[in-house]
Amino acid sequence: MAATAAIRDPAAHARSLGLDPARLPRHLAVIMDGNGRWARKRGWERFLGHRRGADTVRAITTECVQLGIQRLTLYAFSSENWSRPPREIAVLMELLAQFLRSELPVMQENNVRLQAIGRLDRLPAEVRAVLDANLAATAGNTGMVLCLALSYGGRDELVDACRRLAARAARGELLPEAIDTDAVQAELYAGDDVDLVIRTAGEQRISNFLPWQAAYAEFVTSQPLWPDFTLDDLRACLIEYQGRERRFGLV
Ligand code: IPE
Ligand code: IPE
Ligand code: MG
Repeated sequence: MAATAAIRDPAAHARSLGLDPARLPRHLAVIMDGNGRWARKRGWERFLGHRRGADTVRAITTECVQLGIQRLTLYAFSSENWSRPPREIAVLMELLAQFLRSELPVMQENNVRLQAIGRLDRLPAEVRAVLDANLAATAGNTGMVLCLALSYGGRDELVDACRRLAARAARGELLPEAIDTDAVQAELYAGDDVDLVIRTAGEQRISNFLPWQAAYAEFVTSQPLWPDFTLDDLRACLIEYQGRERRFGLV
């Protein structure tokens, strides 16, 4: 990772960017879209866009650490993405493994705790191995949680939660009428409420990302394709978020 500056004063950093440190999203989630288009625009193969997209992941993750954001969830690979051409999937998995290998020292230096959500058993063994190693190595870190949504689908997540609840009910440990929102939330891969969802490449859809957790999230669309998304674009999204009035159904 290029930017490995020690974490100084996150509030001062936020203020230097014109942001109110008290009103930053606690949990930021990003749909990193547009890698393929970035490459195709240049007449290149799509995988080159994914490779450049990994550089943006590094830069944005570091900036979120510097800003003191508590939780960053990145949509890296969806359940539906398994239907892409096998060659593209293979490149994405290789890039993922490379990213995990190269980022471990930086995560340690930045006190970042890695988390992963999704049907991780579908990932290739090499990816699982480096992922598991990084999860274990960063488990004791107390700074930002970097949560990677890998082989993730919001509907799969809800199905898996239902199965676990049903299994507990079948064992007689849980009465159906005891199932409430807290009980469902507790069975999600990670139930943390999202404050802000950013999607790049100008798209305005959720694509099966965190349907439960983002139920009351603000949604900001950013025009740049993911490999072109800069720290300044992130700042613009955060400024837009801070201008929103969050009402949660109240008056
Ligand atoms: C996002 O870029 C990365 C993944 C979904 C893995 P895309 O690959 O979706 O790029 P576009 O949307 O085709 O440009
Ligand atoms: C969403 O992007 C998934 C990820 C960013 C990993 P897609 O490019 O797969 O979504 P759609 O197909 O445009 O909805
Ligand atoms: Mg896309």
